[in-house]
Amino acid sequence: MATQAPWPFDDPMSLYMDGHEREWAWLRGIWSGRGHVNASFWRLYFVVVIDGEPLGMQDLIGTNFAAFGTVSTFSWLSPEARGGGLGKEMRQAVLHLAFDGFGAREANSEAFIDNHASNRVSEAVGYVPNGITWATRRGESAQLSRWRLTREQWIKQRRDDIELVGIGDCLPVLGIDPSSAS
Ligand SMILES: CC(C)(COP(=O)(O)OP(=O)(O)OC[C@H]1O[C@@H](n2cnc3c(N)ncnc32)[C@H](O)[C@@H]1OP(=O)(O)O)[C@@H](O)C(=O)NCCC(=O)NCCS
Repeated sequence: MATQAPWPFDDPMSLYMDGHEREWAWLRGIWSGRGHVNASFWRLYFVVVIDGEPLGMQDLIGTNFAAFGTVSTFSWLSPEARGGGLGKEMRQAVLHLAFDGFGAREANSEAFIDNHASNRVSEAVGYVPNGITWATRRGESAQLSRWRLTREQWIKQRRDDIELVGIGDCLPVLGIDPSSAS
């Protein structure tokens, strides 16, 4: 799982150590997140699979979702899989789950200002600029662009070729009231 510039966040998913330590920390981050799903915070870790081969991950995150109806996302693709439209497709897939499956009212996203691919994915699927914020990468502070997609904006660009299966069974464990999801 090689990293290369532009560096993403100082996040358990993207530690900058070399060798197995980084991979183990990355796996522990995912296992730990799966064990902590509850109504106040959940992070769903989806795997991007093409022809049976795992090529990346697309996370969907909800913090106090019942109150705010807001999700955020995190994506990572294997370097050889980038730039071919997959980033956009996988973001659209989890947005469909959030808005159509969970009844979300808003999605937000952020990326370092020099992360053109991530910022362009947000813009291309309908998010609008929502200010800036700061985070560290490799210990240095750097500016992030923030993006916001409302339900109304999502509806204008929603896809009609995505099928959601078994959502009803997932709602209680995520603390989502089925009547607010439909
Ligand atoms: C961010 C990431 C998931 C995007 O996936 P991707 O498959 O590379 O993106 P896509 O091919 O779907 O491209 C989406 C748009 O971005 C544009 N784009 C892609 N790479 C670009 C680049 N390096 N510079 C400028 N624009 C770029 C594409 O042209 C496309 O725009 P369009 O809709 O106008 O044609 C992927 O690049 C990645 O894994 N990067 C490393 C990890 C990371 O930074 N994650 C995000 C942390 S916030």
